[in-house]
Amino acid sequence: MDIIQSPSEMQKWSQAAHRAGRTIGLVPTMGALHEGHLSLVAQARTHADAAVMSIFVNPMQFGPAEDFNRYPRPLEADCNKAAEAGCDALFVPQKSDMYPEGFSTQVTVEALSARLCGASRPAHFCGVATVVLKLFNIVAPDIACFGQKDAQQVIVLRRMVQDLNVPVTINVCPTVRERDGLAMSSRNAYLTPAERTAAPVIYKGLQAARALYDKGERNAADLSRAIEDLFRAAPCIRKEYIEIVDCANLQPLASVASAALIAAACRTAESNTRLIDNVVIGGSL
Ligand code: PAJ
Repeated sequence: MDIIQSPSEMQKWSQAAHRAGRTIGLVPTMGALHEGHLSLVAQARTHADAAVMSIFVNPMQFGPAEDFNRYPRPLEADCNKAAEAGCDALFVPQKSDMYPEGFSTQVTVEALSARLCGASRPAHFCGVATVVLKLFNIVAPDIACFGQKDAQQVIVLRRMVQDLNVPVTINVCPTVRERDGLAMSSRNAYLTPAERTAAPVIYKGLQAARALYDKGERNAADLSRAIEDLFRAAPCIRKEYIEIVDCANLQPLASVASAALIAAACRTAESNTRLIDNVVIGGSL
């Protein structure tokens, strides 16, 4: 596996791969790799000839009071995991390479970015869209793989790719979970033992809503209430939002008629960890 720091070296690597007739699959990450990230590499390898992973803890997508400084950065372990998963190249740029002195361009995907997580993280998706467009321009992938775990991120990035004619296909991969249902996340490492024990309630709530939907319930308020009822039993998991929205535009639904995203965001009481999860009913992302 080639480990590349400089954007221009990365561009040369990709140009050489394309000249040799190889397609490239990109997996953008912020590191602290877990099975969820590695499942995206497996997807990239299935759909492209060469797999490139990027690891960059992107300062632009963190708010001023968020966890940028304490975000885990186990680089050596990540290199080993990326190599074992079959990455052909690992792109690990420095902050000064991505945002040099004078950097002043931002990509804003209006409307979609203000919904759900955007309500409490107003600059987040602008930071995500900007860094991902930079990664697309540097790596020039044919496909890029993202997890359903961050459903709003995928929906925002698809809009960006469509609006700006970016020649890349976005693949969405299923959420990889711990045995008790908790969605894998680099942030799970912040949880106290009691929070970790309680955290699976998020997915249990989402599953309860899906079970009601499967039985014929279509009223969004009733589906949401099923989730809230379960959350009440776990006081250390505090709801930030539970929303049932149209997958296409993230607008709230009163009744579920087509593909709907049931998305939940919580904060834990003690470690103040933000956890998100979702399920899609009546279709797919
Ligand atoms: P990060 O949180 O490291 O996630 C990188 C990719 O892994 C994202 O596509 C995310 O949806 C996916 N992922 C995370 N947990 C997953 C799980 N349990 N199952 C499946 N996929 C999972 O998302 C980001 O980084 C950043 O915003 C980034 C896109 C890299 C831009 O900075």
